Amino acid sequence: MRVPFLSSLKSWFGKTPPTQIANNTPIKFQSNATEFGNCNFVIKSKYDELAKKILENSDRTHWTRDSFRKEVNWDSHDVKQNILQTLNSLPSYELRDTAIMAISVSDGSEKDSLINSLMEKGLPTGAELEKLKGLIADIQFDAFKTITNHALTAEQLAVAPLSKAIVFTKARPLFQELSSQFVDDEGRHSHIFQDYLTEKLGGERKDSKSVVRDFDLFSLIVPIMPAGSVFLGLAVETVGGAFFEFFANHPKTPDPLFKAMCSAIYSRDEERHMDICETLYKALHDKENQGYLGSKWEEFRNKQMFRSIAKQVYGKQAGMDHYLMRSTQALGIDPKDLFKHISSRVKDRFARIGHKVDESLLPKL
Ligand SMILES: [Fe+2]
Ligand SMILES: [Fe+2]
Repeated sequence: MRVPFLSSLKSWFGKTPPTQIANNTPIKFQSNATEFGNCNFVIKSKYDELAKKILENSDRTHWTRDSFRKEVNWDSHDVKQNILQTLNSLPSYELRDTAIMAISVSDGSEKDSLINSLMEKGLPTGAELEKLKGLIADIQFDAFKTITNHALTAEQLAVAPLSKAIVFTKARPLFQELSSQFVDDEGRHSHIFQDYLTEKLGGERKDSKSVVRDFDLFSLIVPIMPAGSVFLGLAVETVGGAFFEFFANHPKTPDPLFKAMCSAIYSRDEERHMDICETLYKALHDKENQGYLGSKWEEFRNKQMFRSIAKQVYGKQAGMDHYLMRSTQALGIDPKDLFKHISSRVKDRFARIGHKVDESLLPKL
């Protein structure tokens, strides 16, 4: 009796495996593998023009960790002194507000009585005022540790989706160049934040459980879902970029070195990274043909992925209990402004790939 299944297996094994190189046959790239829904693993040549535009328009003057350190006179900065200088330059009503904001998110046992006294009597004078400034500087110094650790781990997380893109953009050298630039940039960012954390803040890198979980999730999905992982990459880049942009431009960010770091990383690299992810996403989904409505699978996948990112960024309750919100407030900056800024950048960027952000996942501010 002939068993069709077995005979087809036999004939399959009898063939030369498709990737084997024999008799100088050129390697054929697999061109029909797809993610669920209409996502191609292989990018069509017509998308080269988009990649070329990013490469041509980016002012990617070669900057390194060392050139940045020279540029900002790295060794001359003492973060605690920088913070104290900023506090000294504030008008008294702003200093009082900053003190109340910083103390209210600190762990000090006397914080309630201190806040009451500041609200009722205003700022103290003389030695008491200097002591108060020292206390605010300590709180802000610790807040920088938390914020920098978050930025550092986010930089390291960002490498995952695009490092795999180097593989699945095979046969499209312009996309490969963009992806490898991206990975190179993230390595540099992570190194600079690591320097700031250890050399300037005397801190240590700490992995948060949710970052480790997201890293594991990335590693799992990247090989099987190229467009899904680029969507995650776009989310990480947009949120991270908006975060750096906010601190780089905010007049109250109390350390000029931190501001310079955020500004260099955002303006020289992160904006381009968002463009790379957006372009790669469009190319993988062949958006020129399929338009922006996409498939049901694309919509479902993006929604689930955005949910996971929103939890990571905004916290479960999306409220004042989130450590980034507390740290931002400690710097004398209204955390609602940070989250409004991030949400608006995220909505704009996702609209460009046809993804409508689920408002219920954003913090209610
Ligand atoms: Fe980065
Ligand atoms: Fe980036």
